[in-house]
Amino acid sequence: MTQTTHRSHWSNRWTFMLATAGSAVGLGNIWKFPFMTGVNGGSAFVLVFLACIALVGIPLMMCEIMLGRRAQRNPVDGMLALAREAGASALWKWVGVVGLFAGLLILAFYSVIAGWVLDYVVRAASGSFKGVDAAMAQSQFNTFLATPLELVLWHSLFMVMTMSVVARGVNAGLEQANKILMPALFAILLVLLGYSMAVGNFAAAVRFMFTPDFSKITPGAVLSALGHAFFSLSLGMGAVMVYGSYLQRHVSIVRTTFYVAIAETAVGLLVGLAIFSLVFAYDLEPGAGPGLIFQTLPIAFGQMPAGNFFATLFFLLVAFAAWTSAISLVEPAIAWLTENTKLTRKQAAWLIGVTDWILGIAVALSFSVWKDVKLFFGLNIFDTLDKLTTNILLPLGGLLMALFAGWVMKTPHVQDELGLAGAPYRLWRFTIRFISPIAILMIFMYLLGLV
Ligand code: PFF
Repeated sequence: MTQTTHRSHWSNRWTFMLATAGSAVGLGNIWKFPFMTGVNGGSAFVLVFLACIALVGIPLMMCEIMLGRRAQRNPVDGMLALAREAGASALWKWVGVVGLFAGLLILAFYSVIAGWVLDYVVRAASGSFKGVDAAMAQSQFNTFLATPLELVLWHSLFMVMTMSVVARGVNAGLEQANKILMPALFAILLVLLGYSMAVGNFAAAVRFMFTPDFSKITPGAVLSALGHAFFSLSLGMGAVMVYGSYLQRHVSIVRTTFYVAIAETAVGLLVGLAIFSLVFAYDLEPGAGPGLIFQTLPIAFGQMPAGNFFATLFFLLVAFAAWTSAISLVEPAIAWLTENTKLTRKQAAWLIGVTDWILGIAVALSFSVWKDVKLFFGLNIFDTLDKLTTNILLPLGGLLMALFAGWVMKTPHVQDELGLAGAPYRLWRFTIRFISPIAILMIFMYLLGLV
């Protein structure tokens, strides 16, 4: 398929890999994964999550990059062009439309949580964790959540950070930011890992995360691991597709996908080990839930040698990870606007930034003054956006992409793009035709209470 307009491309495959890993490694790995592991009994959840990444995540990531690169357009026009090429219905473009809105909805709450992280960078740097006990850490966090003005200010700062990168474009913005932030993130991670091996209870963390105990595997744990594999690899909303659309033709999609998935999973596991080493060193509760890094970790940092310094590094790591993910959440919408309207990238970034900022304010207020405003199924604004996107829109997008690539696209086109033939191709196609759709349908049935 030929491209219609002149579009930017990544400078080389490394920058594509860094950017895609940057999108994948985010709050999902550092905030969500450890607490979900803690809540779901440790090793059982980790093993199932790894299986989900291998069986569903990796084939779907190849699929999404492949769709993007073949289309050479934003996800909406891209799905339309691919559907035309395959002689299929124009309705397939709705996969792109829904994904584009899903990204904006995710960013609205993602930016608020990333705002908490920015606040915690400053808190850690100014030494406010020194000697805190469980009750103090909890009250610090609760008081912060109950102060809407602070939440809104930090959310505003994060939105400005995100949009100022996006406004600069693929090469000067996205690529440049990932080239700086991702190596910094890996370096900080290694330092933190060394620190928690030295002062934490590393052996207990390894035991907790890796000793197989299959009795703890419940249907609920399996399905939340699968849902999380989606969120964590940024699949199902067109972020990876739009990144794929900036990829040059000669780069191997299969190989790059493996590298990205390995990097993303390794970061998740290493962060988990670092966090649990500290948690176990002070006999704290691993199953503390969403407050794990904001309420439990400060207690450990507050008692450790050079705790303030390492706590600051830790929250910087989280902030960098969130930043490189946030820019990929808006890219589908920005690409659509710049390819379909007369808006420049800068104007598009402003438009989307302000709209999403307003939505984010509603999310920030839902932790205090709007706590009792319920949208769907009795959920407040934050929970509605989180559940609607993570549990419904992303898996739905992934399901439709898998069905499109597996059943609608013509085999020679798919093979040409993926560079696969013979048994490896048949294996991939079997997964994308049957395993991924069935796994995703199981998530939906679980949510509807049918399994
Ligand atoms: N993968 C990101 C994380 O783990 O935090 C979240 C995310 C980014 C989801 C981009 C979806 C997306 F398109």
